[in-house]
Amino acid sequence: KPDGLTATPPMGWSSWNRFAAAIDDRTVRQIADHLVSSGLRDAGYTYVNIDDGWQGTRGPDGAIRPNARFPDMKALADYVHARRLKIGIYSSPGPKTCAGFTGSYGHVAQDAKTYAAWGFDYLKYDLCSGEGIYRTAAQVKLAYQQMGQALRATGRPIVYSLCQYGRDRVGTWGRDVGGHLWRTTGDIEDTYASMAAIGFDKDGDPANAGPGGWNDPDMLEVGNGGMSEDEYRTHMTLWAMQAAPLMLGNDLRTMSPATIALLENRGVIAIDQDVKGAQGRRIRKDGDAEIWAKPLADGSVAVALFNRGTTPREIRFEAEDAGLRRIGTLTDVWAGVPDNAARRAWTVPAHGAMLVRVKG
Ligand code: DGJ
Repeated sequence: KPDGLTATPPMGWSSWNRFAAAIDDRTVRQIADHLVSSGLRDAGYTYVNIDDGWQGTRGPDGAIRPNARFPDMKALADYVHARRLKIGIYSSPGPKTCAGFTGSYGHVAQDAKTYAAWGFDYLKYDLCSGEGIYRTAAQVKLAYQQMGQALRATGRPIVYSLCQYGRDRVGTWGRDVGGHLWRTTGDIEDTYASMAAIGFDKDGDPANAGPGGWNDPDMLEVGNGGMSEDEYRTHMTLWAMQAAPLMLGNDLRTMSPATIALLENRGVIAIDQDVKGAQGRRIRKDGDAEIWAKPLADGSVAVALFNRGTTPREIRFEAEDAGLRRIGTLTDVWAGVPDNAARRAWTVPAHGAMLVRVKG
């Protein structure tokens, strides 16, 4: 039964895309501080998630201990909580994680208790090093179910993020094992080609997404430097249209005002976080031009016009594209201003996106 967590897609920051396994206590604390000072926490980004690389060895009692870069996990969780943020951790059902650190194999219930005792609010559980152990889809599902049960048994509300790369039709059973989000793809990279391959074509089945359980096309690369501003705007637009979890993947300590503007646009976030929880989908494709629509709780529709080509192009849409009989009001979401409701066509830059909110 629903536990009330992730009524809308989770938002926060995760260490992996920018820092990989080179993450430490000091950096996590600084990121928490910058979530607050940048205004991103107040825009909705509240989870501070430590990905792979925090683990040390097990103690004589079998309990997992952090490595030397994380002197005191409880103190770190307290620090993050004191800033009105939540904190996340990472493990694998196999003996090792993808980066070769200690996994939870043989210690599932014990690890869940340890995370809860430290004060963690979120677990990403990543299918690594279990090839010989978890061979069938049923075995994979069971492994995820065991951790899901262990988390619930702690009594602490913990968001459970499944990471097995969209295999075994995870969207059809993610909720059943206690999952709140499940990855639909392999790893994103900080390139337009990688982001577009995921964002346009690996969105999972929208029918599986909704309040309490979300398709996860992986964490954001915005601000990491490998894409142009128009390409990052496309990245944010695609993720918002798909009600994707919004996990920042950049170094918040050094981000530019342009990056902050892309990440904290309230109108864009409102589309991602809309309480109806519908995952938007492509409704039309004409060569490099795509039109996507996402129905919103107030009866309006978010419409995104994407140009996947390398030269600017005019893209046109009609009320019927959005399932509306007429276009009453229309807002340019990125600009945050009403646009001329009579207008139906925009020139969209190369690899760019135009996002409008339409009321019938
Ligand atoms: C693979 C996942 O897809 C990544 O997001 C990250 O968690 C790494 N594993 C960590 O090893």
